[in-house]
Amino acid sequence: MSDPEVLSANAEGTLRASQARSDAIEKDLIVNPGRYRMLTGDRPTGKLHIGHYFGSLANRVRLQNLGLDTWVLIADYQVIYDRDGVGEIRDNVLSEVADYLASGIDPAQSTIFAHSQIPALNQLLLPFLSLVTDSELRRNPTVKDELANSGRPMSGLMLTFPVHQAADILFCKANLVPVGKDQLPHIEVARLIARRFDERYGRADATTPVFPQADALLSAAPHILGLDGTKMSKSRQNVIEIGMSADETAKLVKKAKTDSERHITYDPVSRPEVSNLVMLVSLVTGRNPQDIAEEIGDGGSGTLKKMVTESLNEYFAPIRARRADLLASPDHLWQVLRDGCEKANEVADQTLLEVRAAMQMEYWGHDHH
Ligand code: TRP
Repeated sequence: MSDPEVLSANAEGTLRASQARSDAIEKDLIVNPGRYRMLTGDRPTGKLHIGHYFGSLANRVRLQNLGLDTWVLIADYQVIYDRDGVGEIRDNVLSEVADYLASGIDPAQSTIFAHSQIPALNQLLLPFLSLVTDSELRRNPTVKDELANSGRPMSGLMLTFPVHQAADILFCKANLVPVGKDQLPHIEVARLIARRFDERYGRADATTPVFPQADALLSAAPHILGLDGTKMSKSRQNVIEIGMSADETAKLVKKAKTDSERHITYDPVSRPEVSNLVMLVSLVTGRNPQDIAEEIGDGGSGTLKKMVTESLNEYFAPIRARRADLLASPDHLWQVLRDGCEKANEVADQTLLEVRAAMQMEYWGHDHH
């Protein structure tokens, strides 16, 4: 089972190859959106924030609107790989559905679903686990990072969640996964499992493999930092949630870290905090960050922060209003999730039948599983 291209044997080269492939796909999907089924998702560990929005959500909406078949997973079984218990899971799931719809995910075009409601997806984990070795799992760099961040011993789920994530991608035969660089090792796992499944079950000559090879679509969005200049993360209380009020946003921006130099410039390397704020203005206004910094100039961080607050609040006002309206009728949001789960279950059941057939476990034929 040793495979030379496995799991970041050459991380640099893999990244460059993935980027090149991603750039080619980015050009193709505008011409051929119908060729792609894209799947991506979020762990419902808290409220989604503007890092999620600019890093990922806005891009999903763009791809959906280009006509790609869009699947969005609320990865609820992934919540428990690095913590004890599920937290405010119900609220977080509901709020995630609201964030999706408010941001422009359209349930008429996209399928929104949750792990816990799709038994056949989860069942794929079992045959998939037989296709990877312990050492492959242990050298996954993202698992190593997550393990270190969790401050806990390695749980069985922590070790194997990338295989479960492969099931997320493969159950619906997605061929495109828009993600950040940190998720590339997981996509490698999905590709590996897809290939090995066919090899293992003697399907090498079959005209169509059971599972396609998924590609990453690497987001072009800049990496947004938290308001203190470190990684944006809820636990550091440095995030602006999509659903925060204009006042809460103003308060947080006021407290944002800057530096001692009055004159504002855009210089992400030596002035990360100030540049991050300039970038936020750039993202919501579509203006060039250098121009924004130049315009503020000696206005200093006070002027910069005022601009951040005003432009963010203006940009998110309609999204926040929609979100509040949506959350006023939770029944509708749950129904959207139910409909998505129903569709996901149909697809997952069908895939599991194909898997059982390949594994010669189709004892009573197709109709009596
Ligand atoms: N692990 C991803 C994250 O933390 C979320 C996720 C779960 C995901 N399943 C997925 C992303 C499948 C892409 C495809 O962001």
